[in-house]
Amino acid sequence: MQSQTIAFDVYGTLVDPLEMSQHLQMMVGDKAEALSKLWREKQVEYAFRRGLMGRYEPFGICTLQALNYAMEVLDISLSTEQQSFLMAQYQQLKTYADVIPGIESLRAQGHHCVAFSNGPAVKVKDLLNNEGVLELLDDVISVDEVSRYKPDPAVYLHLLKRTGSRAGNSWLISSNAWDVMGAKHAGLNAVWVKRSEEAVFDPWDIKPDLVVNSLQQLAQEFSENT
Ligand code: LAC
Repeated sequence: MQSQTIAFDVYGTLVDPLEMSQHLQMMVGDKAEALSKLWREKQVEYAFRRGLMGRYEPFGICTLQALNYAMEVLDISLSTEQQSFLMAQYQQLKTYADVIPGIESLRAQGHHCVAFSNGPAVKVKDLLNNEGVLELLDDVISVDEVSRYKPDPAVYLHLLKRTGSRAGNSWLISSNAWDVMGAKHAGLNAVWVKRSEEAVFDPWDIKPDLVVNSLQQLAQEFSENT
């Protein structure tokens, strides 16, 4: 395969936001899992809604407001300090074990690898730097540069512009089905990383080009198509 541009989604694909439930456990005990799940769902929904309304604020605002929503629904009270601590931990999420070997292998095959996220570039760089992933990437591209959110076609076109790539040679890699569908809709290739057995791809008329369960499997599939 000739050199491709491979853009990795960050939250849920390179790092696991549900890992926050470990910190939440210490603060809210049994409610940790429900809080972490609702927090993540609402964070994404707030980005969608802000995008549709044309009322862009950085992803951290969506994250903090979503935390406050989830706390209220689950009748949980966290102090401002606890909320700040949690927001700081969001910058320390661990990468999945397959991420570094997968990206190393794709780079060794000559592909151009970037991160492509709803999070502002400075935050994403910080997060990926902690985990040693940043140095493997050619760039970090954020929707913040166009003040729109995934899955607006404008953000995928921005990705193509920033990487100087054609849609046919560009791949979005994401565990978020709605991100995969957004990229396909904008004309890119897209791979769904099915990170859990229970994950379901939305039954629309848009399908991923490939489904893998790890970035190592992705690298393997790419090498077999050389
Ligand atoms: C991202 C989120 C949406 O990194 O997963 O773009």
